Amino acid sequence: MCGIIGATSSRSVGKILIKGLHLMEYRGYDSAGVALHQKDQIVRLRALGKVAELESLMIEHKPKAKSGIAHTRWATHGQPSKQNAHPHDSHEEIFIVHNGIIENHSELKKQLTDAGYTMKSETDSELIAHLIHFHKQTTQDSLKALMNATQDLRGAYAIAMIDASVKGSIFAARHKSPLLVGQGIEENFVASDPLSIINITEQFFLLEDDEFAHITKHDINIFDANGHSVDRKETVIDATATATSKGNYKHYMEKEIYEQPEAVANTIDGRLLEMDVADNIFGIDSSKAFADIKRIQFVACGTSLHAAKVARSWFERICETPCYVDFASEYRYRNPLVENNTLFVCISQSGETADTLAALEYAKQKEYLGTVTICNVPTSTMARESDWKIFTNAGPEIGVASTKAFTTQLAALLMLAVAIAKSQNKNTELRQQAVQDLRNTPALIQEAFELLEDINYITKNISEKENSLFLGRGMYFPIAQEGALKLKEISYIHAEAYPAGELKHGPLALVDEDIPVVAVAPEDSLVEKLLSNLEEVKARGGTLYVFGNNRSTIEIKKGKFINMPECGDFNAPIIYTIPLQILAYEVACLRGTDLDQPRNLAKSVTVE
Ligand code: G6P
Repeated sequence: MCGIIGATSSRSVGKILIKGLHLMEYRGYDSAGVALHQKDQIVRLRALGKVAELESLMIEHKPKAKSGIAHTRWATHGQPSKQNAHPHDSHEEIFIVHNGIIENHSELKKQLTDAGYTMKSETDSELIAHLIHFHKQTTQDSLKALMNATQDLRGAYAIAMIDASVKGSIFAARHKSPLLVGQGIEENFVASDPLSIINITEQFFLLEDDEFAHITKHDINIFDANGHSVDRKETVIDATATATSKGNYKHYMEKEIYEQPEAVANTIDGRLLEMDVADNIFGIDSSKAFADIKRIQFVACGTSLHAAKVARSWFERICETPCYVDFASEYRYRNPLVENNTLFVCISQSGETADTLAALEYAKQKEYLGTVTICNVPTSTMARESDWKIFTNAGPEIGVASTKAFTTQLAALLMLAVAIAKSQNKNTELRQQAVQDLRNTPALIQEAFELLEDINYITKNISEKENSLFLGRGMYFPIAQEGALKLKEISYIHAEAYPAGELKHGPLALVDEDIPVVAVAPEDSLVEKLLSNLEEVKARGGTLYVFGNNRSTIEIKKGKFINMPECGDFNAPIIYTIPLQILAYEVACLRGTDLDQPRNLAKSVTVE
């Protein structure tokens, strides 16, 4: 989704900005632009499509500037076009880039049009430039004009702005959309994603909601909503922990799939005792507080939501605790009733997904026992806003389709289940088994990679279809959902997941000789029932691709049985995810899609 970078320096900033935009490409976008302070005017270049198009324009025009702002846009208001791309300007004086959504844009546009301003784009963002220009006429001060303008805005925004009359300065504002300041030597930066400047600096100042920044190449000043100076502690983000090269892999997604043994090992590292989890791995006093938990409310989006759905079974079994799982985008609109001693848990790779963040904020006003965030980005807003947290330590995930974030979230969730049961003195044996399974997980993932040849036996057939069905039961239904999500996200094949018992209530009508049916069938208490459901597919001539173990009794005449490694009860969902990720990846490769940046999708969805 949209990305902001701004730089002010004693050297030329064009290349820094383009490089920063390249590093944010993984987030998903449809156009890019830059505004550079050159002599006494601001030069703007914008391009539809890839950052490489903008880079070609830069090479052609060779702008020379020591300060500027740049942006990748993911369309929300107004179609992807050069005209709608950021930066937007007012009177060629005020230039802004904006992430987020201005909810009262219609009203503000009308006011501005009545005041004589002309909108040149279809975006909600352009009005911000005009609004700042409007306020500047009375205050004559760029920072104050930005502060006054934000008072009129409703919605979410991260804004970086330059003013033609204040050379070398960048102004920034943040409200419900991430933004930070990076400190260099004789140069400073603003960015919505630390990855965009991590190769230049490791020193950051994180902006809080409703704060503003004014940076020059020598100074960084942060202000609160009342204009008072804020003394912010520096945050160091380790560049080695954020290495972003593809190495020898063709795609980030491929690299991230094969990094999973190490990623899960990093998630559990230092958090397990011989037979239990260590105390307080979710933060200060978490073990004590967890003793009172009676219920758990999960919210998340996309792949992270599937992690919550899988984990629900663990919590019911290991902690004997009822769990509710909600789409973050739905949760706060259904007026949830919070029973006493309910723990609120949000799961998010990025820790910035707008719906999940809004759900967390809503939950903080309710009578929850406390809030926990499970996420991969320690500097994220969710991590900062929760009472307790655990970082999955998966390393940066660049591929839009989430892989290692999912399996590491599952590992963290299993540790949460064990931690709660430990605090409540419940189910010692199950806790020991879960801990043992967690330890065995990296090696089992490695074993699952050996299935590549078997998987490739089925990829060609699936790659030639336009529809597919994924089936599972119990906690393997969300695993089937995750497999279907992976396939549709990156190969654009329609993939639907069903709990296998539901097949006869509708989807069976789709089964014919043509549709591939993928079944996740590990040996558990439901496997016999699942296998009977698969007979219903066989009877209709459907092609079956079944992932199970060597004790399975199913005979497949049309399709293939793939024999999975022997797993533990608790790590099987993690291990059964691996071949589904590889399947989606290999199918997408055959179809030749842009699988690290699939069409219409964004990595970090920072708008509601
Ligand atoms: C986007 C991504 C998905 C991700 C979802 C939630 O839709 O494309 O891969 O699962 O956001 O993101 P989060 O960072 O909150 O886990």
